[in-house]
Amino acid sequence: MTVGPRPDAAWRTRPERPRLAVIGLGYWGPKIARNIQELECGELAAVCDTREASLADVARRYPAARATLSVEDILDDPTIDAVVLATPIGTHYALADAALRADKHVFVEKPLAASSVESGRLMELAAARDLVLMPGHTFLYSPPVLMIRDLIASGELGDIYFVSMSRVNLGLHQSDVSVAWDLGPHDFSILRFWLGETPESISALSRACVIPDMPDVAFINMEFPSQTIAHVELSWLAPSKLRRTTIVGASKMVVYDDTSTEPVRIFDSGVSFPNPESFGEFRLSYRTGDIVSPPVSASEPLRAEMEDFCRAVSTGSTPVSSAALGHEVVRMIESTDLSLARQGARVEVDSDDPSLVATN
Ligand SMILES: NC(=O)c1ccc[n+]([C@@H]2O[C@H](COP(=O)([O-])OP(=O)(O)OC[C@H]3O[C@@H](n4cnc5c(N)ncnc54)[C@H](O)[C@@H]3O)[C@@H](O)[C@H]2O)c1
Repeated sequence: MTVGPRPDAAWRTRPERPRLAVIGLGYWGPKIARNIQELECGELAAVCDTREASLADVARRYPAARATLSVEDILDDPTIDAVVLATPIGTHYALADAALRADKHVFVEKPLAASSVESGRLMELAAARDLVLMPGHTFLYSPPVLMIRDLIASGELGDIYFVSMSRVNLGLHQSDVSVAWDLGPHDFSILRFWLGETPESISALSRACVIPDMPDVAFINMEFPSQTIAHVELSWLAPSKLRRTTIVGASKMVVYDDTSTEPVRIFDSGVSFPNPESFGEFRLSYRTGDIVSPPVSASEPLRAEMEDFCRAVSTGSTPVSSAALGHEVVRMIESTDLSLARQGARVEVDSDDPSLVATN
């Protein structure tokens, strides 16, 4: 595919207060619409869903916004600057592609697309047309996640030995995508954001316990270039809700529990292995110091995410949840799928590997 830049792309005028349309008003779309409605930096201009009941419900709440069952109405409306897609994953590529070609900036809910070929093409098209393309990795705007990113970046935790993540609860089983495509983008985007690197290799195990051929539990292992290792446990089948991450560094350790009133706890604990003074001596030194639970802002991540999108549209800045990060996340899910197809084999995360592309 060749994507030539629009002749007028260099002269694109950036709206000061972008007018946004939300497309897809099922579970997540109405939450996005509510946050946009409360923004100062952007305006909820339109809402759209192909299902009449979903549209009517949201339209009633925002009488000033245009309500339509037709995506074409949105794409043909020159007063709309940007679209926010909250539709099923299988629709992301076609809708985002059409919106970019209609000259709209595009926010796509996670994951950016259903394959890295698709996400790569969308990035290419957005760049050629000087339009914003942003994936919806909401956790990158969550105050605990930002706090831990700063802790890691400052070196306070020391070298990160490993990260262990659990995201499990009872439901909601999806009928169109596996648990890795549904929940994986959250933990994969957080890991990519915290560590600033994509894993070199991934191996995964999963099982379709309830719906045939639709894996509802996955155990995913990753090895990063820095030697950090990570384990991600994802499931729609668990007796209680867990959103728990442990980060073990050479100097300190952190427990991040998104369901707790103290979501971040920093442990000044560790083990060192002093150089043995004489041959054969084996003595470890254990340290269990203070546990600190810093105050964490209660601001709503989705609102900060929408503000970042508006900022990107009006100033051309790169959002924290960038298209490049979203593309890496898609590559990580694809590698997970490939490992599953190879009975849990360790798979190199390599976008040039044609077999990765073939799995979608
Ligand atoms: N960031 C988060 O934390 C978060 C949370 C939940 C869901 N999501 C993402 O949001 C997206 C939507 O998920 P959901 O759970 O709301 O799904 P959903 O099935 O509840 O809603 C999707 C809606 O899109 C509508 N739709 C489908 N095709 C359409 C089209 N071509 N044009 C217009 N409308 C169309 C459907 O009628 C439906 O109302 C997914 O990408 C999902 O991964 C993100």
